[in-house]
Amino acid sequence: MILKNIFVLVIIAISTLRANAQYPVPIPPGGRMAVHGWLILPWNTNATEGPIQAWFSHHVPEFGADSPHNFQIVLNGTLTVRELTTAVYLNESTSVPSYPDLRYLSYPRDMSSSGDTKPFQHMYFAHEIHSVPDFDHIIHVSIDTTQCHCEKNFPLLCNSENILQQIRTPGVEWSFPTLTNDLQNRLLPPTVIKGRITSGPVLCPITVLESIHCMIGPDFNHKC
Ligand SMILES: *[C@@H]1O[C@H](CO)[C@@H](O)[C@H](O)[C@H]1NC(C)=O
Ligand SMILES: *[C@@H]1O[C@H](CO)[C@@H](O)[C@H](O)[C@H]1NC(C)=O
Ligand SMILES: *[C@@H]1O[C@H](CO)[C@@H](O)[C@H](O)[C@H]1NC(C)=O
Repeated sequence: MILKNIFVLVIIAISTLRANAQYPVPIPPGGRMAVHGWLILPWNTNATEGPIQAWFSHHVPEFGADSPHNFQIVLNGTLTVRELTTAVYLNESTSVPSYPDLRYLSYPRDMSSSGDTKPFQHMYFAHEIHSVPDFDHIIHVSIDTTQCHCEKNFPLLCNSENILQQIRTPGVEWSFPTLTNDLQNRLLPPTVIKGRITSGPVLCPITVLESIHCMIGPDFNHKC
């Protein structure tokens, strides 16, 4: 279970790879890109604390000449888990009802302190997995926070600072109430759609730039 979680952390690229070398693929700030998954192959150790020493194998390579994944790379590196930002344990019972509305969890791409005040934000959105069969979908979106607004009755919460702070909270949940929570309605480019933070009054137009990863449950071994 722990390893499975770590694998997911790596796939959504919120992990820190510390190697005595540069990360071997470019990460352009705010730019569109291929996000690389890594399989963590831990070294034999009895240690239960500290950075995880492992071989990291690029996941998944592709032969296509136009693919951004046309390589096999294996790293010697360590993974430092700094925080378990999101943990949703899945229940395969078919009596767990699906959320009626489409929901994604969001994670900022610019985690520098200067990112806290930038009105234009690049984010990763991860579809919130909840009930079988479900789908694991990660996308890259942008939000022009000057276009956000609040439900009326909440004027005090609706200043730009508060909106930014809510949007930049890692793991915050967004609902897209106009869409039912199914694979057909997943967010794909070039959609622009209004989303709502479920824990607050903030609504924003979300611009979908890129679909990064999509697999279908319950076993998540088929691409969508
Ligand atoms: C882990 O502990 C066992 C039992 O003490 C020992 O035999 C083994 O060599 C240790 N493995 C490593 C990689 O340190
Ligand atoms: C992993 O890389 C470190 C840093 O270069 C090096 O000291 C260590 O020997 C390497 N370990 C293996 C098993 O290759
Ligand atoms: C899974 O959901 C079912 C139906 O709601 C419930 O009866 C069961 O206790 C849950 N299992 C776990 C491990 O939470």
